[in-house]
Amino acid sequence: MSACPLLLLLLQLLCFCQTAPGYSNGFFYHDVLNGNGNGEIYFNGVRLYVDTTEAPIFAVRGSNVTLPCRYRYEPELTSPRRTRVKWSWLPAGGSHETDVLAAIGRRHRSFAGFKGRVQLRQDSPGEVSLLLTELHLNDTGRYRCEVIDGLEDESATVDLELRGVVFPYQPPQGRYCLNFLAAQRACEEQDSALATFEQLFAAWEEGLDWCNAGWLADGTVQYPITIPREACGGQGMAPGVRNYGTRHRRLHLYDAFCFSSSLRGNVYFLQHPQKLNFSEAAQACEEDGSQIARVGQLYAAWKFTGLEHCEAGWLADGSVRYPIITPRPNCGSQEPGVRSFGFPAQHNEHGVYCFRTS
Ligand SMILES: *[C@@H]1O[C@H](CO)[C@@H](O)[C@H](O)[C@H]1NC(C)=O
Ligand SMILES: *[C@@H]1O[C@H](CO)[C@@H](O)[C@H](O)[C@H]1NC(C)=O
Ligand SMILES: *[C@@H]1O[C@H](CO)[C@@H](O)[C@H](O)[C@H]1NC(C)=O
Repeated sequence: MSACPLLLLLLQLLCFCQTAPGYSNGFFYHDVLNGNGNGEIYFNGVRLYVDTTEAPIFAVRGSNVTLPCRYRYEPELTSPRRTRVKWSWLPAGGSHETDVLAAIGRRHRSFAGFKGRVQLRQDSPGEVSLLLTELHLNDTGRYRCEVIDGLEDESATVDLELRGVVFPYQPPQGRYCLNFLAAQRACEEQDSALATFEQLFAAWEEGLDWCNAGWLADGTVQYPITIPREACGGQGMAPGVRNYGTRHRRLHLYDAFCFSSSLRGNVYFLQHPQKLNFSEAAQACEEDGSQIARVGQLYAAWKFTGLEHCEAGWLADGSVRYPIITPRPNCGSQEPGVRSFGFPAQHNEHGVYCFRTS
């Protein structure tokens, strides 16, 4: 609903600078429509095509990515035409498209969270790819490239996905304490975001098995089971992601599935002569010029840099965990993973994992 008035306004703003002052808006609009006012006649028999890639684009947090898009006319046109380009975005798990960028020629404007982070790439004729910099965890979803030429309007979509790691999260208060908003916040506090269904599904394909239901970014509550059992939906059910459907975002309480991607920085187990209680642990990281690591950071380091250390350490939320790549005796279960001891009393003494930004 809001997209159209915005675009129109933008159109006026952009073109006013390019064309002679004194244009009345009405005529000016005709001009943009390539015209003499007869856009549709002029356009007879010519078709506009817009292409992106069918395969999703994968990237990691913090990187730059180009979402390809190009358009062409058939039959080919000899004189250049003035087109408008609009990129919009349907967030993973979302239900509304929002504006990302709108452009006419070499001028463009970006919107909301994309301000200053997007550019149009026009390296060759017909190219209108979107360059998106400094990827955020929540930039995933479906991007629409729309080319508007007079009365013609064609679009194509491309999916952006992040490589990362999904982890189930329970707060110190225990199991099933989070409504949707609290789950969102809990993930953010661990340097992660609520996972999308695609991310949870990919984690299930890689073997994630977790018998507590958690919120996903789309407001549904689900959990991944690879080994069916009585307590987790029944033995008779096939392995899969069990779905409780959309739940009441304020009233219903579950755990969360968080998603983390690569880090600008590194996580390490602090070499320290003594074991530390929780407050000493946080202090020790600071004295080492870093910060006590958050859960999402430990998972990302385990997944992306192969961090492995068979010693329990405090994390920022008060949990105690350690990351294992190669399972062995005395280092937890038979599977690689991040082991958790839950939230011990804070006077207990352990090691600590710190995070240093690079
Ligand atoms: C991403 O692009 C920005 C702006 O073009 C640039 O400053 C930055 O170095 C790039 N980052 C990476 C990781 O390539
Ligand atoms: C997406 O992530 C960025 C950076 O982490 C944050 O500033 C922004 O508020 C988030 N947007 C939404 C809609 O959650
Ligand atoms: C940790 O130990 C210090 C003494 O070294 C003490 O002052 C502090 O209260 C302890 N913190 C906790 C959470 O037990």
